[in-house]
Amino acid sequence: MNKRILITGAAKRIGKEMALSFFNKGWDIVIHYNSSKDEAEGLANQMNSERNNSAMLVQANLDNTNEVENLVKKILSKNRSIDALINNASTFYPTPIGTFSEENWNALMGSNLKAPLFLIQSFHKELEKNKGFIINVTDINVDRALVNHSIYLAAKSGLQTLTKSLAKELAPNIRVNAIAPGAILEPPNTDWTAEQKNNIINAVPMKRMGTEKDIVDAAIYLSEAEYVTGQILNIDGGKSL
Ligand SMILES: NC(=O)c1ccc[n+]([C@@H]2O[C@H](COP(=O)([O-])OP(=O)(O)OC[C@H]3O[C@@H](n4cnc5c(N)ncnc54)[C@H](OP(=O)(O)O)[C@@H]3O)[C@@H](O)[C@H]2O)c1
Repeated sequence: MNKRILITGAAKRIGKEMALSFFNKGWDIVIHYNSSKDEAEGLANQMNSERNNSAMLVQANLDNTNEVENLVKKILSKNRSIDALINNASTFYPTPIGTFSEENWNALMGSNLKAPLFLIQSFHKELEKNKGFIINVTDINVDRALVNHSIYLAAKSGLQTLTKSLAKELAPNIRVNAIAPGAILEPPNTDWTAEQKNNIINAVPMKRMGTEKDIVDAAIYLSEAEYVTGQILNIDGGKSL
C-alpha cells in the first residue's frame, strides 16, 4: 500500500502544489479543505483519474473541535492509516490593537495553532507506528514582527514552539519540523500595487518573491531528511538575515 499524507488547506495555492508533488512521488493524498470545495474536488479528480483511489477529500472548519474530530475519524476509517501530516491551513488577517474580538482570536488561533496540535495528538499513534513525519508551516515574521498582526504571529510563534517541543517528545519515531515561508504569494483577496511589490522584493536578498515550488522543495527535503527533527527551515530568499 502507498504511503499516505494529510495536507490541510490543500485545495489551492501552496497546499495544492505540495499535494501534487507528494502525489507525483507516489504518495496517496488526503486533501483537506474548508470552503474551496470545487478546487478540492477538481484536484482529487485529477489525481484519482491518474491513479485510482490515490486521493481522498475531507472537509472541515479547523476552528471547530467537533469537525476536527470527525475529520480524524473519516481519515482513519476502513482501517486506513497515515504516514505524514502537513499543517498548512491558515487564517491570515490583521488585528490592529483596539479593533479585535474574541472571535478573531479564536479564528486565528484555531487554524494556525490549536488544530495543528489536536491533529498531531489524534494521529500520533499512527505516525509513531509508521515512523512518520510532521511539517508545520509557520512564517518568518515570527522573528521579525509584522505590524498589526499580533494574534496571527502569536499563533505561528506557538506553532514553532510546538514543533521543537514535540520533536523532542515524539522522537525517535516521529520527526517534527517546520517551514517558515517569507514573501511567497500575495495574501488571498489582496492586490498589491507595483510599488508595494517592488518594496517587498527589494527587501529580499535574492531579489524575487518565492514561489510555491520553493516551499514544495523544502517539504520534500524534510520528508526525506531522516536525521533532521525540531528544525525551522526559513524559505525566504534571505529576508530573515
Ligand atoms: N503565502 C505566503 O507568502 C506565506 C507567507 C508566510 C507564511 N505562509 C504560510 O504558508 C501556508 C500556505 O500559505 P498560503 O498563502 O497558500 O495559504 P492560504 O491560501 O492563505 O490558506 C490555505 C488554506 O487554509 C485554509 N483555511 C483557512 N482557515 C481555515 C479554517 N478555519 N479551517 C480549515 N481550513 C482553513 C483555506 O482552505 P479553503 O480555501 O478550503 O477554505 C485556505 O485555502 C500557510 O500556513 C501560511 O500561513 C504563507
